[in-house]
Amino acid sequence: MTSDNTAIIRKIKKLKKEKNAVILAHLYQDLEIQHAADFCGDSFELAKKARSTDAENIIFCGVSFMAESAKILNPEKHVFIPRKDAGCRMADMITKDDVLKLKEKHPSAAVVCYINSSADTKSVCDMCVTSSNSLKIIKNMKENEIIFVPDKNLGSYIAKQLPEKKFHFFNGFCPVHNNIKLEELKKAKELHPGSLVLVHPECRPEISDAADFVGSTSAIINFVKESNEKSFIIGTEKAIVEKLTEECPEKDVFLIADHVVCRNMKLTSLEDLLYTLEDLDDEVILPDGVMISARTCLDNMMKAGSAK
Ligand code: 13P
Ligand code: SF4
Repeated sequence: MTSDNTAIIRKIKKLKKEKNAVILAHLYQDLEIQHAADFCGDSFELAKKARSTDAENIIFCGVSFMAESAKILNPEKHVFIPRKDAGCRMADMITKDDVLKLKEKHPSAAVVCYINSSADTKSVCDMCVTSSNSLKIIKNMKENEIIFVPDKNLGSYIAKQLPEKKFHFFNGFCPVHNNIKLEELKKAKELHPGSLVLVHPECRPEISDAADFVGSTSAIINFVKESNEKSFIIGTEKAIVEKLTEECPEKDVFLIADHVVCRNMKLTSLEDLLYTLEDLDDEVILPDGVMISARTCLDNMMKAGSAK
């Protein structure tokens, strides 16, 4: 940490107390943002934290669908995202109309949306899921026919484990994870023999099939921390490797390929966070109708995801 950063972080810590704010950061954020945050987590952990906080103001360091979800779950709180231009390329691939068309084609199917979708898309879905809770939630749903949007890779990963259910997919994907190639996985194994390969379910099916473990960002971190093995190849965003290198110095952690970086997640700077806290201006606002209709599927996820 540079001395400049130390001064900014000191100001951030002082301001967040004065302004009754909590700082939540996704695990793909730069480490300096994660150091300034009160809580870091994967998308489900952050949604739960947003719901349980007593703070009046939530500063969400992540991408826009995450801040929108925090607002929908907490309409009475003020939610701010330091970079409003931080979108999710997968969420942008699908619209509400795409979902309505799929519903018309498969009228008896339940519609499950990955949380990586806009509030407008969520407004016409029955159930929301994240990468950490999707298998459990869909398994427990009474419907045997499921429209799963937008991530075809996460969808097919789950479908393989639930052969009793029939799935319809949309052709969406995360360009960051979908770009990981099998040749890159094989090359990483050659370079780091004996390493376990841990990947996010947004990767292509052949990558998930070849991995030793598939899980959400937090699940990957926990796996490394709890494992007796020493060496790991990580098939998800670069920040996870940086975090593990910092927190588990006794382990060797390698990124599967250099390009696995989510540029939108990297937009947030400490200055952005400081200015957001200073101004508490331009909060996340969604149309009332969208807030109400998108809340159903998020509430359903919170209930189903927390059930034993
Ligand atoms: P997590 O649910 O693991 O936080 O993943 C969110 C995400 O955007 C992965 O690309
Ligand atoms: Fe969206 Fe992919 Fe970035 Fe995750 S890594 S926020 S899915 S673009």
